[in-house]
This record gives sequence, C-alpha cells and structure tokens, in this order.
Amino acid sequence: MASGARFAAALAVAPGLIRLPGCRTAPFSRAVPAGEPSAERLCSSRVTGPPDRPLPRQPLHPDSLPRFVDRLPVPRVLRPSGTRPHPDKPRAAPVPVFRVAMKATEVRVHRDLPPTRMWGYEGEVPGPTIAVRRGEPLFVEWANELPERHFLPIDRTLHGAHEGAPEVRTVVHVHGAKAPPESDGYPESWFLAGSAATAFYPNDQEATTLWYHDHTMGIERLNQYAGLFGFFLIREAAEAEAASSLPHGAYDIPLALCDRLFDVDAQLVYPTSGRTRGPWVSEVLGDAHLVNGKLAPFVEVEPRRYRLRVLNASNSRFYYLSLTDDQPMWQVGTDQGLLSAPVSLQRKMIAPGERVDLVVDFRHLSGREAYLQNQTTKLLQFRVGTMKSPGEAPMPTTLRTLPRIEARAAVRTRTLTLKEHVDPATRAMIMLLDGRRWADPITERPVVDSVEIWELVNLTDDSHPIHLHAVRFQLLSTQGYDYTAYQRTGRILPRGAALPPMAEDAGWKDTIRAEAGLITRIIVRFDAFPGRYVWHCHVLEHAANEMMRPFEIVST
Ligand code: C2O
Ligand code: CU
Repeated sequence: MASGARFAAALAVAPGLIRLPGCRTAPFSRAVPAGEPSAERLCSSRVTGPPDRPLPRQPLHPDSLPRFVDRLPVPRVLRPSGTRPHPDKPRAAPVPVFRVAMKATEVRVHRDLPPTRMWGYEGEVPGPTIAVRRGEPLFVEWANELPERHFLPIDRTLHGAHEGAPEVRTVVHVHGAKAPPESDGYPESWFLAGSAATAFYPNDQEATTLWYHDHTMGIERLNQYAGLFGFFLIREAAEAEAASSLPHGAYDIPLALCDRLFDVDAQLVYPTSGRTRGPWVSEVLGDAHLVNGKLAPFVEVEPRRYRLRVLNASNSRFYYLSLTDDQPMWQVGTDQGLLSAPVSLQRKMIAPGERVDLVVDFRHLSGREAYLQNQTTKLLQFRVGTMKSPGEAPMPTTLRTLPRIEARAAVRTRTLTLKEHVDPATRAMIMLLDGRRWADPITERPVVDSVEIWELVNLTDDSHPIHLHAVRFQLLSTQGYDYTAYQRTGRILPRGAALPPMAEDAGWKDTIRAEAGLITRIIVRFDAFPGRYVWHCHVLEHAANEMMRPFEIVST
C-alpha cells in the first residue's frame, strides 16, 4: 500500500483524529505556499497571549531568484590530523584523530544573494564528510569556536535553555552510530565556546549513511538551523563496494536536504511566536530548499545510474520526493543500510532525521534535464550529458540477506504514547513521550542484548519521526486503534489489521515515522554499549518541547 493510502486508512480507523486546524496538518500537506510573509507561517505556539515583538524582517521570496545557476557542492571528505592509541586495545593500530571546529561563517547559498551568516563545522555547511570503512575506529575532537552570543531566538521557557544557561553551548551526536554513551552526544553534556570534547567512534556496524549534528539541550533546533550538520559515512571495504554493483565513487552522491527562511538580505530567519517570553513555535517550514547548502543547484551527470544518499536535515519539513516525469527510481537502503533487494518506486517520503538510499537512472535522458522534486517544487536539476564513461555494472536484483527479528524474540513490550499536554503549572503546551517530561526519572531500561517491542501510540494529529540513539531496529507492524474508546476510557484498543511493513520500510531503521492515529511497533535489539542515551522525536521543535526522553541500556 502506498504510504498515502496507508495514512488515509489510519484516519479512517481513528476518526477522532480528523481535525486539521491551522497548520497542524497531515504530513502530506505540509508544503507552505511560497511568498507568504513568514509571520503568517506560524503554527501553534506554546504560551498564550498577544505578540509583543516586531514581526520578522522583510522575507526573501526564493521564487524571485533564477534557479539552477549554482553548481551542487559535494562536501569534501575530511582528513585526519593525527593518531592516538586505541582507548581499550593497547595492541591495536593507532586510531586516526579528526579535529572539527564549529565556527561562525558566511555562506553564499545562491549566486545572486549576499553571503548568509551561518554556523558550520569547520565553517562549512554542510560540514565536511567524515568517511570511514566499517570496523575502523576514529576519534573526533569537536571544538566549539563559536561566538559567545547566539544569533537565533532562544526560548528561555524550554527545558535546558532556562534563564542563566549560557547562550552558546554545543554537543555533537553522530546520528545512527553505535557509540559508547560518553561519546554519543548526550544533550546535557554540552560544552562552551573555547572548549572541546573528544569522542570515540568504534564504527563497528554495517555500512550506511550516518550524519552528525548538534544535540544541545534546549537549543539543538537553533544550532542545527544555523548550519551545524554534516555526513558521516560508513562504507564497506572497497572490494565489497565494487562487488555490490551499486554505483560508487563519483556516481555515489550524498544529498543533504533542508529548508530555511531568509530575509531580503539573505540572512536566516528562525520564526517565533511573536512573544518575548516563549518564542517557541511547534514547526518551522521554510520556502527556501537547500541541497548541500545551495538553493536550487544543478549537477552534471552522465547518462547512467547514480546512487543518491538523501538525508533530510530539516528541522520539521517532511519531503515527498520524486523525479520529474515520474522517472523511476529504486530504493536500495534505509537509515541503517541496504535493503534485501532494490524496491522500485516513484515517490519517497522522508522525515527529518531519516536517510534514504536511492538509485536513479539517467540513461534515457541523455542530453536532457531531470529534477529531484518535493511534491511539485524542483529542488535539484540534473543536467544529463551524452557521454558515459565505460564500466557500468548491471542493476543488482538482490542486495543482501536481511534477517528479520521475530516478534517472539522480544522479552518485553512497552506501550509508549505520543501526546500533547497542557502543563498545569504554566499552562504551556508540551509534547510528551509516554506522558513524561525530560527531567522525570528514567523509565526505559532495556537489558543489553535483549530484544524489546516498543509500541509507539500516536495520539496527536501529526506524524512524529521517532529516533532511538545507539541501536537499529525494524518496523514490526502498524495498526489503528479505537480513538473514541481512548477518549472515553484512556485505554488503547488496537483496531483493524496489524499491517507488516512495506518492502521499502523493511530494512534496518534508526528513525521511524509514527503516523497520526496509528500504533507503530518497532522491534529493537539493544546490542549497544550499556549506558544512558536518548530517544526523541526528530522534529526538532517537538524535541525541544519535551518530546525527548533519556533511556538506559543496563547490564543486567
Ligand atoms: Cu539525529 Cu538524537 O538525533
Ligand atoms: Cu514530533
């Protein structure tokens, strides 16, 4: 079933959820018409009361700019700056050390715009790519060389960003990495401008597209919006890559998508509720779509197949991707690696935090143009040449064997709700996982190596991409529930059939869309380092407003 049909079916199962006021919309209608002043794009705010701040500066209308005049940048691959002994294997080969400094920078997002102030890793947006072979560990020294004042609006009513907390704090998380807890970027382990933190990444996990980004308690959404994200690729051995028949080398292109709002001077605008106390907004949807940091770029390609590793690095935007003229594409991988076989599709939805590994074929477009688009908005132009270098392998029909984790392997099932609440003390709207706030005691303590089923019961009218740190998991099933009975009794009564995942969602995941009106069941083996991690919604505005919880992998 197409995801759209699945979503509609979910609504039919839970009729109480069909209420779509304002911009609390279904995921497929998130697109905001271009050209609206940004103040009108605001979604719900957290604190009630009239606006007391001036409206944002004059917005830039990206449609007024010529499109496809800038070449697509591909982030450079970072080189190590030295080595250090392995932290726990004294006889092992020395481990490479990378130094990555976060810096204020000026980035030109379009030929005809002045430079935009951003914050980037090594002063680049996206940051330089960290690329490693599976099983090769590395250290990264993350250095905070940012200014001491933030340039985006901090909400002091949010947890972690309270009055007195320093404005500029950073901590880095490698999304999808199986890293020891002290290297995982715990949101409260932030450090200040002028200091650094060194993390160790064993990279003892399957090849896939990971990414690194800021994760600082209370300001993660602002730091990422400022530009703090980059790719972290785990590759197989070179021979294995060549043998896989998938396009590689120059034919394997990472694409980081994100949306932003700009003012007429090309400066970033992060929207606010209009209130000095409580500027938080529930979602940020920009009308300028950047691909690897450029607005509507082009890329020259040969008439052959390419692998596109697409990352949705937006704060809130769900992308609904397709190629123009319904050109076919294949999905070959999910967040945590290859599928068992390519899945042919025409559209692909990708939520914030997710990655999707696509193969596209330009063979029939020799001398023409094609576009990657979000619904009807063209994001990236492919200029297909007429000359093709020799040596293209045939499209593989299978990719690997992908074992399923059987439901009966689970030692425990946890039912965890996703819901909006009103804080009785402050009357502020908060979004909670299982009715608990960040600061509440830890309730999820899976035993290391055990298997659990987590049933994510979405009681909101929004889709939430839920991410668990340190582990990978599989989608087990999705099922509706009786919303009326829930409203009457507070009980979750599953209703309708439990649907197995579609082929394209049947791979290893680390971020899963929990759709409105559905129970989304994931099955997780907690085969990671014991310790404390987090799980959260990857809509960064939600995570900032309590939709993030610690969990702990315990030894026994
Ligand atoms: Cu991509 Cu906890 O984050
Ligand atoms: Cu959410």
